[in-house]
Amino acid sequence: MSSNTGRVYVVTGAASGIGRAAVERLVDDGASVVAVDLTDEGLEWTRPVDRVVAVAGDVTSEETNEAMVDAAIEHFGALHGVFLNAGVPGFGLIDRAPMAMFDKVMAVNVRAVALGMRAALPRLREVDGGAIVVTGSTSGIAADPGGWTYNASKAAVINMAKAAALDVAHEGIRVNAVCPGPTKTGMTQAMRDRDESADTMRRVVPMARWGEASELAAAVSFLLSPDASFITGVALPVDGGVTANTGQFPTYGSRH
Ligand SMILES: NC(=O)c1ccc[n+]([C@@H]2O[C@H](COP(=O)([O-])OP(=O)(O)OC[C@H]3O[C@@H](n4cnc5c(N)ncnc54)[C@H](O)[C@@H]3O)[C@@H](O)[C@H]2O)c1
Repeated sequence: MSSNTGRVYVVTGAASGIGRAAVERLVDDGASVVAVDLTDEGLEWTRPVDRVVAVAGDVTSEETNEAMVDAAIEHFGALHGVFLNAGVPGFGLIDRAPMAMFDKVMAVNVRAVALGMRAALPRLREVDGGAIVVTGSTSGIAADPGGWTYNASKAAVINMAKAAALDVAHEGIRVNAVCPGPTKTGMTQAMRDRDESADTMRRVVPMARWGEASELAAAVSFLLSPDASFITGVALPVDGGVTANTGQFPTYGSRH
């Protein structure tokens, strides 16, 4: 039995990648989950899974954020935590990429996270050990060439989580960020399809490989659970050592 047994969570971006792995992990740990993503088709995989309810909607709308919290109460009677994970990439040079890309990425990666926190907090105040986890990124800790939009969005959401943690700490509610390094999901499929991908991982990641979505899900399950009861306001890299590395010297992986 895990300390998440009997708890109720909302996970956004649950159709694939890290969000889907988080739903699977939380259910394995004995929790009930409201799985949220843009379309019913994307959430089709949840149908045969016990203790999962699917809510299709765009997290940039207040309605979706209200609906996902309402679904937790309606189907499972409480809400103990939310994993605000839905995100989109956005890359291009600072003076070339369209501002529309910036607005879209900020709406999903930053503004929607604020909406999710604001919708969940009244319900989290009703339970013991309420918790929020957001998905930051190693790209919110340092920067990537062409990443001005994505980097800005992920740095923003990490510091949003820290500020929110300070606002609600006295109420016993915790807010943390997980910061994935390069992880095998739909978002990175095109990168992984390129021939140089394995070589890049050997140079950039001290553990010399891509992360698995399930490895992110393990950290998320821990941060949401009462096992993390005195951890708040942290940005936890789950990155095979990427952010530990100055990048000034070759990693051992690249020497083998
Ligand atoms: N994969 C990586 O290497 C990596 C690294 C760092 C951070 N991240 C972050 O992890 C999170 C999950 O991404 P992933 O890698 O699992 O990618 P993914 O593309 O597999 O999953 C993202 C999911 O979010 C959903 N989504 C996007 N916009 C939405 C919206 N407006 N409303 C509802 N759902 C929406 C998508 O439909 C998709 O199912 C994102 O925030 C991403 O920025 C990923």
